[in-house]
Amino acid sequence: MGFPMTRLRRLRRKESLRRLVRETTLTVDHLIMPLFAVEGKGVRSPIPSLSGQFHLSVDELVKEAEEIRSLDIPAILLFGVPDKKDSLGSGAYAKDGIVQKAVRTIKEEVEDLLVITDVCLCAYTSHGHCGIVEEGGRDEFRIENDKTLELLSQVALSQAEAGSDMVAPSDMMDGRVGVIRKKLDEHGFSEIPILSYSAKVTSALYGPFREAAHSAPSFGDRSTYQLDPANSDEALREMRLDLEEGADILMVKPALPYLDLIYRAKQQFKVPLAAYCVSGEYAMVKAGARAGFLDEDRVKLELLTSIRRAGADMVITYFAKEVASLLKNKNDESHTHLKTVSHKK
Ligand code: PBG
Ligand code: ZN
Repeated sequence: MGFPMTRLRRLRRKESLRRLVRETTLTVDHLIMPLFAVEGKGVRSPIPSLSGQFHLSVDELVKEAEEIRSLDIPAILLFGVPDKKDSLGSGAYAKDGIVQKAVRTIKEEVEDLLVITDVCLCAYTSHGHCGIVEEGGRDEFRIENDKTLELLSQVALSQAEAGSDMVAPSDMMDGRVGVIRKKLDEHGFSEIPILSYSAKVTSALYGPFREAAHSAPSFGDRSTYQLDPANSDEALREMRLDLEEGADILMVKPALPYLDLIYRAKQQFKVPLAAYCVSGEYAMVKAGARAGFLDEDRVKLELLTSIRRAGADMVITYFAKEVASLLKNKNDESHTHLKTVSHKK
């Protein structure tokens, strides 16, 4: 060999060296914690499909939000699980809807925590679809895109009026970002950003969430509005359109099977990008850990770091609280370690 062998392992010899050359960071700054709001008082009931997650009534949500705040997590994403449903999902845009009540109270009682609200109809419609359903015609049923837009913009407006800091439409109707932007602007909410679920795939990984939100479609599936898992050019097109319509932050969802979309989106658009590590991704890790096959803490950190490495600026994850504590403990440890080292002589 004419040249000395390239010794990449030189920089891997010690953790201090590895820290210096580490390319991707995962900190609490990048985490968003999803929460489920339910009616009632003193309700904190475990969600069977999402072990470690809870249905929380507004008073309990406040406590939870405070805990999240004390862990220094910057934001929560709120979902409502209403008591009543109807064909137009009216609970989603009611002044005293579950999310509206929850936001109002959290904003009153918890300082400095960003409250993001999910904008959709599926948890509020009797049929469980994200849009208005029309029956008949050649197909058995159709999701009416344009009629749904007005309702979605009402959902966003009612959430903004209740104090939401950012709205996140997850329905995948065409044109909804533009319509929501216009509605918010017309009502004096031009400063409320839109986090758009731009590239949301028809995924089997939403199963545990639908159990939790009681939002599974009672017939058919969501493949006429959500993206085909096989398409990435189309996903980029969805994202470009959302940007043009005024989205402030784009999202890819789910995260791990779609790291290529995250990567391409970041390379192409260079705008703030979120990834949603969804319920099925969470449930697989929990199940593997429970069975004793996975080291849960290491797996969580590795998965979230990979999502960041692919290009996501922020990650919506049911692991947010657990990971925030993990990172905090690690930090404290390395600080005490540094102290003991510098006191030695
Ligand atoms: C639908 C919605 C879904 C999720 C959040 N909002 C997916 C769906 O039911 O199609 C899934 C989130 C998760 O799985 O964690 N508006
Ligand atoms: Zn929906």
